[in-house]
Amino acid sequence: TNFTDYQAESATISQGVVESNHAGYTGSGFVNYDNVAGSYVEFAVSAASAGPQTLTFRFANGTTTDRPMSVSVNGTSVVASQSFPGTGAWTTWQEISVNATLAAGGNTIRATGTTANGGPNLDRLRVSGPGDTEKPTA
Ligand code: GCU
Repeated sequence: TNFTDYQAESATISQGVVESNHAGYTGSGFVNYDNVAGSYVEFAVSAASAGPQTLTFRFANGTTTDRPMSVSVNGTSVVASQSFPGTGAWTTWQEISVNATLAAGGNTIRATGTTANGGPNLDRLRVSGPGDTEKPTA
């Protein structure tokens, strides 16, 4: 199997807007989280079988302040505070990976800003399994 990409602009967005004013995104844009704690993007992810997967978030943070997010799978916290540090510019996109166990079938993967700054700009989620070509970048 191979990885599957889920675009943030196609996900469920709570307290955020789809924008395309900073180049380098994939798909048709990215999500600009509102600058408020609790803003989130939730992806509907399908897994062929239960087991470990790597969740790779592609993001940009043009500030020098970390924009940590919590990551949950099916309502259960996977990481309480994953760092999304400054990338140098809003047009500079980087990837950060988190390991999680998915259920067979439908899963909801939610990334929630935990500080008053909200999350970074989020381009996409890439889901890859142990045998896939895409490996964790961090
Ligand atoms: C700027 C930038 C946005 C970003 C925002 C923020 O407005 O253009 O893309 O989301 O800062 O700080 O969250």
